[in-house]
Amino acid sequence: MDHTYSTLIPAGSASEIIAELSWWLFGGAALIWLIMAFLFIYAYHKPWPHPRKKVALLVIGGGVVFPVVVITILIYFSLRPLPKLVARGGPDALKIEVTGLQWWWRVRYLSEGEPVELANEIHLPRGREVEFILKSGDVIHSFWIPSLGGKVDMIPGRETHLTLVPKKNGLYGSLCAEYCGASHALMRLSVIVEEKSKFDEWLADQRKDVKPAVIARENSFKKNGCIACHSVRGMTGTLSSLGPDLTHFGSRLRIGAGILENNEENRIRWIKNSPKHKPGVHMPSFTHLDDNEIHGIAEWLGELQ
Ligand code: CUA
Repeated sequence: MDHTYSTLIPAGSASEIIAELSWWLFGGAALIWLIMAFLFIYAYHKPWPHPRKKVALLVIGGGVVFPVVVITILIYFSLRPLPKLVARGGPDALKIEVTGLQWWWRVRYLSEGEPVELANEIHLPRGREVEFILKSGDVIHSFWIPSLGGKVDMIPGRETHLTLVPKKNGLYGSLCAEYCGASHALMRLSVIVEEKSKFDEWLADQRKDVKPAVIARENSFKKNGCIACHSVRGMTGTLSSLGPDLTHFGSRLRIGAGILENNEENRIRWIKNSPKHKPGVHMPSFTHLDDNEIHGIAEWLGELQ
């Protein structure tokens, strides 16, 4: 299944408002273009010279009064929905904190008990209001799920908000919309909108630690220092939050913040040489590890369901 990135096929309350506004703007622009084309043809066929008074009227009317009126109306209608889109959600809103980092997304579910952390993937229940609490861990990023809502900047030292109701089940893509360094274009996020029962089940699974039996099968992840940056809940000694939390990594759709499909072959590629796939990435390459060891880590990561 492919990720959808369309602002013109809205699947959320915020994107519906934006899509409607876009169609009005497009219609208005088309109408003005037709008027201009008509005037151009009219002026071309009218014999020269044109009467001075008529020309002055056209310049002041068409060049000053008309744009001022049109732009004032446009500003009013464009700004009117904005406060609602960036407001905080109601008391029952699902609160999700998303932090933009070079070049991935830290995601924390704050509602319903203890916060639960994951990375680069968001599940949402259809029909429930969601409040995104947006932060940055380094430079300015911009959070954007085109099918569900508008762009909101993530600013270091500040907290911004985006509130919306997802309305259609599906798999949507999200991307960073503010230039934030070398791999800005490789900063993606998967957003899955599903029925409430399925979402509740998913969140309950995310909250669980990795089973001791799976932890016990691990031998290379810890030994090679992966735990210096990555947490796997249930594994002793992993508390670092420098890199993405990997607790249920195997269940995620994509890796490297959306750039590769999550399968064993790609996990091997990523561990071996992540800078090749994502220029500037803070994760070092592990070309010094032998193939067996990398294979073992990649296989084990897939078991983190
Ligand atoms: Cu983050 Cu561009």
